[in-house]
Amino acid sequence: MRAVDIIIKKRDGLELSQAEIEFFIHAYTRGDIPDYQASAWAMAVLLNGMNPRETTDLTMAMVTSGETVDLTGVVDIAVDKHSTGGVGDKTTLVVEPLVAACGQPVGKMSGRGLGFSGGTLDKMESIPGYRTDLSQEEFIHQLRQTGLVLTGQTGDLAPADGKLYALRDVTGTVPSVPLIASSVMSKKIAGGAQRIVLDVKTGVGAFMQTLDEARRLAELMVNIGRLSQRKVIALLSDMNQPLGCAVGNALELKEAVATLHGEGPQDFTEHCVVVASHMLALAGKAANLDAARRQIEQAMHSGQGWERFRALVQAQGGDVSCIDEPQRLPQAPRVETVGAPQAGWIAAINAREVGESAVGLGAGRARKGDPVDHAVGIVVHHKVGDRVERDEALFTLHANSAASLEEAKGRILAAHQLVDTPVEALPLFYGVVE
Ligand code: URA
Repeated sequence: MRAVDIIIKKRDGLELSQAEIEFFIHAYTRGDIPDYQASAWAMAVLLNGMNPRETTDLTMAMVTSGETVDLTGVVDIAVDKHSTGGVGDKTTLVVEPLVAACGQPVGKMSGRGLGFSGGTLDKMESIPGYRTDLSQEEFIHQLRQTGLVLTGQTGDLAPADGKLYALRDVTGTVPSVPLIASSVMSKKIAGGAQRIVLDVKTGVGAFMQTLDEARRLAELMVNIGRLSQRKVIALLSDMNQPLGCAVGNALELKEAVATLHGEGPQDFTEHCVVVASHMLALAGKAANLDAARRQIEQAMHSGQGWERFRALVQAQGGDVSCIDEPQRLPQAPRVETVGAPQAGWIAAINAREVGESAVGLGAGRARKGDPVDHAVGIVVHHKVGDRVERDEALFTLHANSAASLEEAKGRILAAHQLVDTPVEALPLFYGVVE
């Protein structure tokens, strides 16, 4: 088999066989197929799609590109969550400790920023010393000891996804249903999760811009879960405006810490409570969703979730003084708050523009392997539906240069749409796919 023939076949809109998919993915993982051919293949998949059979084969080829973890014997039920990526989405940082505080251990392998969407690892690495490269043995040891792990995908777990994910980030090949579905599900299956809550984002700040596309992605992933004997539910959630207020690594970490103290933005807090309740209910740790919600709220208000997060940071070598006193986290040299140019109601805060501006400020990557600046980002002070007066604080920029600050200012101002008549708030969720 030759890589070029497989690329041409997909370029011409034809269906790939299981053997072709497996050959391509395994050879790419070994380094026998170079990045430029994998980029061309990913673009062909993005443009021409894959059917559910091809997508399931792609998922399993990615799973078998490396080792798999077996968590039976480590935890009773291995439950995990995964978001398809958004702007200001620091949900994992809050949800995992809350679920762990309710007696359900959680070991999660997360990713880095992808395109305009942020990544959990980049956020956690705002904490000096925090390790995101635990080995499989360390992962299992910590899960047993602390009941909570938040690390990177180990190189030997679905390594095909690790390589493809970084490649897609810089080749415009992220927003593809089969590529996202296989990326998400291969990691979860290889990581040993038996029950999975998927947070499928939809809107201008998501890879799936329409609710129909998001639902298609959700149904595909739930189906892949079923075929691999996993219980999967998918929440369809809004990503038209940033989730919460902070966008940017250390800024989001601060917001997550505030949320664990019960002082987070209302939308983000509610989002976390809903996702965490589904995880707890799916793990069988609560009789139903309402009971799960009561436990999660109690974990937040009692401070137990926060204590779990603190223990996690300590276990992974992070400097806990930086989360005890978040002003010790990396700070950008230039901070400027921008006021509303006129009074009115906020009709839109374009999440994609905010995400791309954050990348422009240095919070994300332009090229594979680029470093990120943990300090920079944006804090929006309002949500869609809010009334603002002229000159009232609209957003605050954290930048490392005057030029990047000016550029972001223009973009974020334009991302806020102000109108003269009242506007309804956006929903947080659009439905559940089971
Ligand atoms: N999240 C993932 O894990 N993979 C993708 O491709 C997109 C979002």
